Amino acid sequence: MARLSVNVDHVATVRQARLAKEPDPVTAAALAELAGAHGIIVHLREDRRHIQDRDLRILAQTVKTHLNLEMAAEEEIIRIALDVRPQMVTFVPERRQELTTEGGLDVKGQEARLRGVVERFQQAGIKVSLFVDPDPDQLQSARRVGADVVEIHTGRYADASTPEERDREFQRIRDAAVLASQLGLEVHAGHGLDYRNIERLTTIGEIQEFSIGHSIVARAVLVGMERAVREMLEKVQG
Ligand code: PXP
Repeated sequence: MARLSVNVDHVATVRQARLAKEPDPVTAAALAELAGAHGIIVHLREDRRHIQDRDLRILAQTVKTHLNLEMAAEEEIIRIALDVRPQMVTFVPERRQELTTEGGLDVKGQEARLRGVVERFQQAGIKVSLFVDPDPDQLQSARRVGADVVEIHTGRYADASTPEERDREFQRIRDAAVLASQLGLEVHAGHGLDYRNIERLTTIGEIQEFSIGHSIVARAVLVGMERAVREMLEKVQG
């Protein structure tokens, strides 16, 4: 059975909308763990649009399961990550204008640089994952740069607009998972997964972990709405 790691970035997105103290992604992470999540994921972006340095530092001390830091392979964030020492880092491409991580990392185009960065983390005892498209060339490159894990980008599967396209993207993910596993890489998958499209992916035995954020936070807002309103109504009306 696959593991589930929960990305709590969007709890911080709501907080940052008001530059307030709540909701705190640290609290959300603790609740996710109480519910059985196998790990917590945050993305410390260079533009700090959601997760802040303070969140990462506290999570590194409080997460009881497994903390995975998503990050760009850029020096400022590398230094912070090596100082905070999460159990694992996942390198993702980052563009300032994007709404979320849009595509997989181009490992093939920067093997030499990435090999050095991967080594720095592994020497510090931190496991390294690379977020890649379900593309055999990228997986081979991930193996060559010495990654421990690949996270297969499921965004195109999630966004497919026809059943045929979804089938095609599913096959690509399945083939990629099999190849990555044959290459000796641990296989994770994520991006755009929700309560409907996840089921089919769980049939791919090679995928050991799913990384899910938006759909869980979106559902948490809705399933919590009624209770939150009732509690306020009690305050207002006594
Ligand atoms: N994996 C990676 C590498 C990501 O960048 C993201 C988005 O932060 C996710 C998984 C989670 O995607 P979603 O929020 O769509 O579940």
